[in-house]
Amino acid sequence: MPNLQEQIAGVLAGVRNPRTGADVVAAEMVRDIATTVDGKVRLTLLLGANDDATLVRDVRQAIEAIPGVADVRVDVRDPAQAHAAPTPSRRSLPVMEAAPAPKAPPKVPEPVHYPNLGRIIAVSSGKGGVGKSTVAVNLAIALAKQGKRVGIMDADIYGPNLPLMLGVDAAPAVRDDKIIPLEAHGVKVISIGFLIERDQPAIWRGPIVMKIITQFLRDVQWGQLDYFLVDMPPGTGDAQLSLVQATQVHAAVIVTTPQQVAVGDALRGVKMFERTAVPVLGIVENMSYFENPETGKPIAVFGSGGGARLAEECGLPLLGQIPLDPRIQEGGDSGRPIVVAEPASKAAKELEAVAVRIMERIAERYPS
Ligand SMILES: Nc1ncnc2c1ncn2[C@@H]1O[C@H](COP(=O)(O)OP(=O)(O)OP(=O)(O)O)[C@@H](O)[C@H]1O
Ligand SMILES: [Mg+2]
Repeated sequence: MPNLQEQIAGVLAGVRNPRTGADVVAAEMVRDIATTVDGKVRLTLLLGANDDATLVRDVRQAIEAIPGVADVRVDVRDPAQAHAAPTPSRRSLPVMEAAPAPKAPPKVPEPVHYPNLGRIIAVSSGKGGVGKSTVAVNLAIALAKQGKRVGIMDADIYGPNLPLMLGVDAAPAVRDDKIIPLEAHGVKVISIGFLIERDQPAIWRGPIVMKIITQFLRDVQWGQLDYFLVDMPPGTGDAQLSLVQATQVHAAVIVTTPQQVAVGDALRGVKMFERTAVPVLGIVENMSYFENPETGKPIAVFGSGGGARLAEECGLPLLGQIPLDPRIQEGGDSGRPIVVAEPASKAAKELEAVAVRIMERIAERYPS
């Protein structure tokens, strides 16, 4: 099931501007779609002087018809003034406040090297909900258990999951113009979720994503790390591009589930990193199978072999197959990821094995 943002984009692609005949998405009349978990939707509609005002109603009605949508607010703006930056809702953090408003078009910056972060690893996927955040969090903890110094940040402004999954949620302190990361299970963590109120939509896009990613890399007191994991949002959008523009990403790990559609999306994810010259270390197949508790036999809930096929097609190793295990979800919801809560489980052992394979492959690629 597509997420709410995708559903909104889908219905809006059916709303046509009678003046031009083009749909409002293709015509780039819609900006800053923000959603909350309780179904509130807010967006900006760029309505030109000659455009029919009934478009506002059409847009609203199209979105209201989506099941689960509770409230729709359409902010109408003049396209001539559309370059002004939106004002993000956030807890006031001095470092964030100091950020100047971005101007369009954004300059493409030179990637900056941050030697204190160690090896920077993006955990990515083409499709949403396949378990990127789960894998990223458990890998980070598994690496820390190996005695490594590990940091993790999320680059997912629409659905920051790290605070819940790691059981930490507080506005981080700021000292000497540096944000002090929080710490959970031996891992330093910073999340956009620490900076925004839980029920407020994140209406940040493009240049602002870049700004936040840069701040997380540069303005957080990470100290010296061995590995720095980045939990990416799904897809191949702003955040992926911003991250590789902001710094040298040493490696990417692509998470997929076994189904064909997830695999197809994951392939696009692999290609995107290859285009940006980020080496993909391999594929992690998540929700690979469910172990029948009575017989111990694996049941292929989402089909089988997708991760292996993708790995073969791309000439990449399959780094691991993580079983579907309800304790993974419980761990994610309770702030005690499975490698902490149930280290003896098959899923935890496989995640720890993936962490070791990642360390080995990074060491091969970047001997030092
Ligand atoms: N192997 C697994 N077994 C059982 N539940 C899992 C497993 N992997 C992930 N989950 C659950 O599936 C849900 C989605 O996982 P997660 O949030 O990690 O995905 P994601 O790819 O980061 O999603 P998004 O694209 O929204 O960022 C979560 O509730 C998580 O606890
Ligand atoms: Mg996620």
